[in-house]
Amino acid sequence: MPKSTAIWEALQSHYQEICDLQMRDQFAQDPQRFEKFSLEHNDILLDYSKNRITDKTMELLFKLARESKVEEWTQKMFSGEKINHTEDRAVLHSALRNISDKPMLIDGQDVMPEVKNELQRIRKLSESIRSRQWRGVSGQPITDVVNIGIGGSSLGPEMVTDALRPYGIHDMHFHFVSNVDENHIMAALEMLKPETTLFIISSKTFTTQETMLNASTARKWFLKSVDDTSAIKKHFVAVTSNRDAATKFGIDPENIFMMWDWVGGRYSLWSAIGLPIVISIGMDNFEAMMQGAYEMDQHFKEQPFEKNIPVVLALLGVWYNNFFNAQSYAILPYDQHLHRLPAYLQQADMESNGKYVDREGQQVDISTGPIIFGEIGISAQHAFYQLIHQGTKLIPADFLAPITDYHCIMRHHRVLMSNVFAQTEALMKGKTESEVRAELEAGGMSGEQLEALLPYKVFLGNKPTNTLLFQTLDPKTLGGLIAMYEHKIFVQGIIWNINSFDQWGVELGKQLAVKIQAELEDASEVTVHDSSTNGLINYYKNNRPEKQ
Ligand code: F6P
Repeated sequence: MPKSTAIWEALQSHYQEICDLQMRDQFAQDPQRFEKFSLEHNDILLDYSKNRITDKTMELLFKLARESKVEEWTQKMFSGEKINHTEDRAVLHSALRNISDKPMLIDGQDVMPEVKNELQRIRKLSESIRSRQWRGVSGQPITDVVNIGIGGSSLGPEMVTDALRPYGIHDMHFHFVSNVDENHIMAALEMLKPETTLFIISSKTFTTQETMLNASTARKWFLKSVDDTSAIKKHFVAVTSNRDAATKFGIDPENIFMMWDWVGGRYSLWSAIGLPIVISIGMDNFEAMMQGAYEMDQHFKEQPFEKNIPVVLALLGVWYNNFFNAQSYAILPYDQHLHRLPAYLQQADMESNGKYVDREGQQVDISTGPIIFGEIGISAQHAFYQLIHQGTKLIPADFLAPITDYHCIMRHHRVLMSNVFAQTEALMKGKTESEVRAELEAGGMSGEQLEALLPYKVFLGNKPTNTLLFQTLDPKTLGGLIAMYEHKIFVQGIIWNINSFDQWGVELGKQLAVKIQAELEDASEVTVHDSSTNGLINYYKNNRPEKQ
């Protein structure tokens, strides 16, 4: 148990020593603080100097990483050991972007030939669609690609397709349908013509209820106007490890792409799950993304902890989560193209580290994964930053921003960047009572009026942030950033001694939904649940329209 270790205790007492330190004083005392607490990898700069840390804090945190055997576990992960022990699976998403010639083994078997073969197939399919060689049933090219999937089979491809839109093919539209609420699929279908639409049914299991229902609605919609089941093969492809189910659905086995059990859904955008990305940006750009991720993998494996960006991010997260008792963590991109990054990281982080049982099957005695939330930073400034600045909760945050914007409209970009720098400075420095007093007096206020307003205008500051600057959001950099977060999550899971790669917590709700679905079929009163659930089900049944 991490809590009973000497290093955990050392960190606990160190926290007591430094928790009242003010970052503004630390900056005043040490002009080298930025140089000391910042790291670079390729074109990514991490400034972590605006954190409530000293040299000693980092020393102790690095010791924690060492004693938690982060290096050994990293080695196990990359060498294909079955570290996802509850599912008896290896964790090898890094093989999907292994652009080297080195083999990657599971059970003594090199997985790279299969991975490379699949990449070739993806290239072939995407090129034929992009070049208009792929023709639909009426001989027309594809204009719209609809990804039907949920969770890891949707969030990653959607986030990246949006993030790299400037690199995307311009006269093709991409739609992502995940919700089983019919409004989602209907809104997409309303815009589409069956003869020019390609559906990608993305589901590792090919049993996920939401995806299967949406896929069957899409199939019906398609067959309603194209009354020919043999045409399905020109308009539906699948990404799954369940080939039989996809074949039964009517998909041409030639167009079924592989998923492996050693790739978790939330880590799968590097596989054929990334097909919408490849169709949008082309295989060469996708390979640049893989290159960025591969180089981050090497950085993570090879750099000492002191220079290792994912390790440093993970340790800072642990510091706030476990010693400052911070409950949440904000992801604040200042690049419009990254607007789905917070949602993507919510699954990546919370499905990985939202666990209360440790690797030995015991209940943990420490807090594990934080609540991840976020939004485009500039919009969030006008929405929830109030709470980060003056609320009662400590919310560590990552600010992410490009140095060059894609469109290079300098006026916009300077305003954007001035906000990045201003917000992190404001969060760190705050505004003291005497500063507020001086400001109000300079504005001509005094006496009772000043005293009454003064407390509301004070900012306590000392709010921690990391700033990640990168040259531009190109495929390579995005690949690096995604891999950086994947490894951060991994390191935290190791320190908390949990398995970051299973997701049993999603099962109970799914099981109950299947039972309840049967109860919704007729009008009879339901009595088998607690009074709240019975009451809600019966209220719904009594008030729904006849045809529903
Ligand atoms: O319900 C959670 C989950 O299993 C995720 O882990 C996964 O990404 C998602 O559902 C989709 O699963 P599938 O790809 O099998 O449809």
